Amino acid sequence: MSIRIGDIAPNFHAETTNGPIDFHDWIGSSWVFFFSHPADFTPVCTTEMGRTSQLSDQFEARNVKPIGLSTDTVEEHKTWVLDVNDTQNTTLTFPIVADKDLKVSELYGMIHPNESTTAAVRSVFIIDPDKKVRLTLTYPMNVGRNFDEIIRVIDALQLGDAEKIATPADWRPGGKVIIPPSISNEQAKDIFPQGWDEIRPYLRVTDVNQA
Ligand code: BEZ
Repeated sequence: MSIRIGDIAPNFHAETTNGPIDFHDWIGSSWVFFFSHPADFTPVCTTEMGRTSQLSDQFEARNVKPIGLSTDTVEEHKTWVLDVNDTQNTTLTFPIVADKDLKVSELYGMIHPNESTTAAVRSVFIIDPDKKVRLTLTYPMNVGRNFDEIIRVIDALQLGDAEKIATPADWRPGGKVIIPPSISNEQAKDIFPQGWDEIRPYLRVTDVNQA
C-alpha cells in the first residue's frame, strides 16, 4: 500500500525502545516526524539518529515528536543507542520502533524489494495532530537525510496552516510567502491587509508574521 499526502497515517501497535505503543494514541495532539532506517549498527543510520537527538529542542519547540524505525529488535536498538550516544555526543530519548517482522515497514511502504526485501529504505512521514500525512520523502540507503530540510518543511507546513499561505522555492523562515491561487484578490484584502506584490495575477507575494 502506498501512503499519500492527505491520507490518515495508518495506525499500528508496536514494541519500541520506550515500551509498547498504539501509534495514534502516541501521536496525541502533536506533530510527528516518523523516519525509517535500514538497520542498527550501520554508519549512516547512526549519524541520522544522532542528528535527530541533537535537534530534540528544535522538534519540541514545534510540537513535533520524532519516532524512528529499524528492522531489528528492541534489545538491539537499545544497545545501538548506547553507540549513538557515545559517537554522536547526545542522549537519545525518542522511541525507535522494533520492526523485526517488517509489519510496520510493509504497512508504510518502507520496503522497496528491488533495494532490499529485509531492510527499510529511508522514509520520512510528517504527520499532523489530526493524524494526516502532510509530507513523504524517500531516500536510498546510502544517502543520509538533510535535517535542516526536515525542520524547514515543518516550519513551512505550520506557517502555511497558520497564515493560509504557500512557500516559494528555497523559502526560509522570515522570507516572503505566496498567496495561493485559491484565494481571490477580494478575499486576500481581508486575509492579507498588509497588501502584496502582484508579479503575475497567479503569482502574488507578501510578508506575514513569522514569530
Ligand atoms: C548505513 O546506515 O550506513 C547503511 C545502511 C544500509 C545500507 C547502506 C548504508
